[in-house]
Amino acid sequence: MLNLPTDYSEQLDDLNLRALWGPQLKSLMPGIRPQPGTQGAHWKYRDVRPQLLRATELTTAENAERRVLALVNPGFGAMPVSAATPTIFLGLQIILPGEWAPKHRHSPTAARIIVEGEGAYTTVENSKVRMVEGDVVLTPTYHWHEHGHEGKEPMVWLDVLDIPITVAVGEAAFEPGGGVVTGTNQNDKSATVYTCPGIIPYRSPSEKRPEYPMFRYEWKRVRAALDTVAAYAGRDEPIHMMYVNPETGENLLKPFDFSARLLRPGETVEPKITSATSALLVQGGKGESEIDGKVFSWEQRDSLAVPCFSRVRHTNTSSSAPAYLLQVDDAPLMHKLGYYQEV
Ligand SMILES: [Fe+2]
Repeated sequence: MLNLPTDYSEQLDDLNLRALWGPQLKSLMPGIRPQPGTQGAHWKYRDVRPQLLRATELTTAENAERRVLALVNPGFGAMPVSAATPTIFLGLQIILPGEWAPKHRHSPTAARIIVEGEGAYTTVENSKVRMVEGDVVLTPTYHWHEHGHEGKEPMVWLDVLDIPITVAVGEAAFEPGGGVVTGTNQNDKSATVYTCPGIIPYRSPSEKRPEYPMFRYEWKRVRAALDTVAAYAGRDEPIHMMYVNPETGENLLKPFDFSARLLRPGETVEPKITSATSALLVQGGKGESEIDGKVFSWEQRDSLAVPCFSRVRHTNTSSSAPAYLLQVDDAPLMHKLGYYQEV
């Protein structure tokens, strides 16, 4: 507290002013490194899944519009937005056979990573995008989208959004689609146009490259690429591949990078210490991640959150099978803002 004279404080209040010196200023920037409060965190899918199923008993999709359990970082306390890191919202969403979520769009940019099940689809603008376990499906900022489920079992995916950013900058917006059914049901271009790495439709030098040319990144193909790289790489080379826009080479969503790691049996990797925060989804295998000295043992479908500037070690604890981690991080955002550092 600044112990200001009462009349002075009142005058400042009347003028919409605030004294910002001493401890007040210090509380805004408390140390030489950011102290966002994010903790290393782990959500075991086997603990979350029963709660998702219970949600289907407690509310219909029609009433809820969507049933999502947000993954809340335990370090945040009473944050205005439930989020896994200061920039990344993660939510596990369950959808039952026959359910449908109406067309809508929003300012938060989004991706869904399919965790369990098959038979659901997302329509993004005019593309009907199939969703299979492990796939990354993009619903970028202000793109119309809806989803439905034509399969026979419950389906779960991990929603990844930049909601904390849109809220922080006062840009959070959601627009319902007015009941208009989207779509000409074209196949997503990952199935037709972008089937060969390095080959894209002809563009003259004056033509603009599309910002979001394809919406689906099939896990089956990504895993095959990781396996192939692992077969030829030297034993000491970490296997870490990045998702990119096939037309521009840029990251998938403006604030976030998506990448995938293969950990060989028994392998430990130590990623660079950076100012990016990240989230991980275990796409296969078993292992453990040490985050700032705390060890989290994970298995397929688990999620983790990693604070900025943390010291991390990922280990595949199996002696025979590879492990796969899908990573989302906010390095592009931090870089654009000039905050990105590697230690
Ligand atoms: Fe949405």
